[in-house]
Amino acid sequence: MKDDKKVFRSASWFAKMDKDGFVHRSWQQRGFPTDVFDGRPIIGICNTWSELTPCNAHFRTLADYVKRGVWEAGGLPLEFPVMSSGETNLRPTAMLFRNLISMDVEESIRANPIDGVVLLCGCDKTTPALVMGAASVDLPSIVLSGGAMLNGKFCGQDIGSGTDVWRFSEDVRAGRMSLESFMEAQTGMSRSTGVCMVMGTASTMATQVEALGLSLPHNAAIPAPDSRRLTIAHLTGRRIVEMVHEDLKLSRILTRDAFENAIRVNGAVGGSTNAVIHLLAIAGRVGVQVSLDDWDKYGRDVPTLLDLMPSGRFLMEDFYYAGGLPAIIRALAEKGLLHKEAVTVNGKTIWENCKDAKTWNAEVIRPFEKPLVESGGIAVLRGNLAPDGAVLKPSAASPHLLQHRGRAVVFESIEDYHARIGDPDLDVDETSVLVLKNCGPKGYPGMAEVGNMGLPPKVLEKGVTDMVRISDARMSGTAYGTVVLHVCPEAAVGGPLALVRNGDMISLDVSGRGLSIDVSDEELAKRRAEWRAPEPSMKGGYQGLYVKHVQQANTGADLDFLVGCRGSTVLRESH
Ligand code: FES
Repeated sequence: MKDDKKVFRSASWFAKMDKDGFVHRSWQQRGFPTDVFDGRPIIGICNTWSELTPCNAHFRTLADYVKRGVWEAGGLPLEFPVMSSGETNLRPTAMLFRNLISMDVEESIRANPIDGVVLLCGCDKTTPALVMGAASVDLPSIVLSGGAMLNGKFCGQDIGSGTDVWRFSEDVRAGRMSLESFMEAQTGMSRSTGVCMVMGTASTMATQVEALGLSLPHNAAIPAPDSRRLTIAHLTGRRIVEMVHEDLKLSRILTRDAFENAIRVNGAVGGSTNAVIHLLAIAGRVGVQVSLDDWDKYGRDVPTLLDLMPSGRFLMEDFYYAGGLPAIIRALAEKGLLHKEAVTVNGKTIWENCKDAKTWNAEVIRPFEKPLVESGGIAVLRGNLAPDGAVLKPSAASPHLLQHRGRAVVFESIEDYHARIGDPDLDVDETSVLVLKNCGPKGYPGMAEVGNMGLPPKVLEKGVTDMVRISDARMSGTAYGTVVLHVCPEAAVGGPLALVRNGDMISLDVSGRGLSIDVSDEELAKRRAEWRAPEPSMKGGYQGLYVKHVQQANTGADLDFLVGCRGSTVLRESH
C-alpha cells in the first residue's frame, strides 16, 4: 500500500535545497526535529473550533487525537483554523457564511504545503462548507464529525435540541407552560459537548458524509462525549496518511452513485431538508450532475426507518447504541436501495463496511416491514407558485394537511410576520396558508431558517398545532410541520411567490407533487408589472458579493464563481 519513493505535493515546499526550501523548513520547524521534512505526508487538520460555535468547542481535543493517528502512521500533522459558523449565534444567518467558509477552506488547503486533509465538521454549515471547499481542491480528504450531544433531560423526560424549543415556545405562547419552566428546560437541553442531538442539519450532514463514503463507519452517530469519538479521531488520523499514499482523492469517492446513496440514506434517517441544498452544492463542486428532481426520484420510495426526533421519538445517542448508520445502510442495501460498490475513504466499498452491521434496538432502527414513515425522503413540489421547485419533508408534516387548499395570509418579510402574527385582528384561521416572502438566498440574504413560522396565537389557543406554511426560506432540521420551503425562484428575484396576495387560494398536493396559486396568468402578469425588487440590506462587503453571485436554492445556493473544482496546483513561489 505505501510507496516510500513517492514524492508528495508538499515536497515542492520542503524538499527544495535552496533559499525557498530554507524559508519553508526553518519557519515551520519550531519544535519539530529536522527529519520530519523527510518527504512524509503533511496532513492538514482543518479545524472549525470556536467558542462562538459551541457545538464545535471540543474540536481542539479531537484534533489532538487525530494528530496521534497521523504521527503513528508516519505523517506530519499541521492544524489550521478556518472560519467557523455557530448556528445559534451568527446573524443574519449562518447559511450566509457557508460559501465564505468554503472559500477559506479551499484557499487554505491549496495555498499550503498539504498532501491530505482531515475536515473537522460539526455545527450545521461547517460540514458542507468544509466538504465544498475541499472538493474544489480535490486532495485526499476525510471527514471527522464532532458527534452529537447526550440526550437532553427535563422533568424526567428526554428532550431534543431545537425540536423541543419550538414545542416549548408554542406551549408558552398558548399558556400551557410557564416562563419559569421554560427557563429551567434551557439548562437541561445542552448538557455536553457536541451538536444538536436530534436529526437536525448537523446530524443529517454527518449521516450524509458517512453515506457518501467520506468518513469512517460510525462517524455519524458516536456521541461527542463518548470515548469512541476520540478513538475514531485517532483512526481518522491514521487513515488519512494511508489515503495520501494511495492518492485516494475526494473525486474518486464523490461519484454519482455516492450521491444517490446519500439521498436514499437521508430518506431512511428522516434527514433535514437542508441536506438537499448542501448536497447539490457539493455535487456542483466536483462536477457530478445531481438535480433537485433526483431527490424526489431516489428518495421517494425510501421508508424512514429511524425513529428519531423531529420525525420520531428517540435521539442520536439512542441511534448509536441501536447500531448507528451502518445498520441503516445495511438495511437499504439488502432491499436493493444502495449502490454497494461505492468506494469509501477506508478503501473498502460501502457494502464491505456495513454488510455485517447489527441492529440492537428495533424500536429505534425499525425494520422495513414496520417503518416510521412509509414514504420518507423529500417531496419536490412544482407548479405555478414554484416553477423551479420547492421542497417539503413529509415525515415532519401532518398527514391531514398533505392535500390542502387554503386562503393565503401573506407576510412581505420576517419583520412583517413578527409585527402582525400576534394581532388578534389578523384575518387567519387554521385553514389559512401562511406565506412568507423575501427570505431566500438573495432576499434575506442567506436564506435563513425562518420557514417554520410559529402559528398565530389565536389558532394555537384552539389546540391546533400545525398549518400549511410556504416560503422561500429554509427550516431548521430540528423543526417540524407542514412547511413548504425553498420556493424557487425566490420572491426577491421576482418569482411567483412575490406576487401572492392576501386571500389568494393556494393548493398543496404532496402526493401529486403540486404547489399552485389559483390566480389567472393575466392577473399574475398584471401584478408582475407592478412588482418592484426590494433593496438589498447591504450593498458592499461580503454580503454585497454574496447577493450579486448567489444562485437559487434548486442548484445549491452556491456562489456562481465557486462552482467546480480548481485543483491543487499552485504555480508560483512566494518569495
Ligand atoms: Fe450547532 Fe444545532 S446549533 S448543531
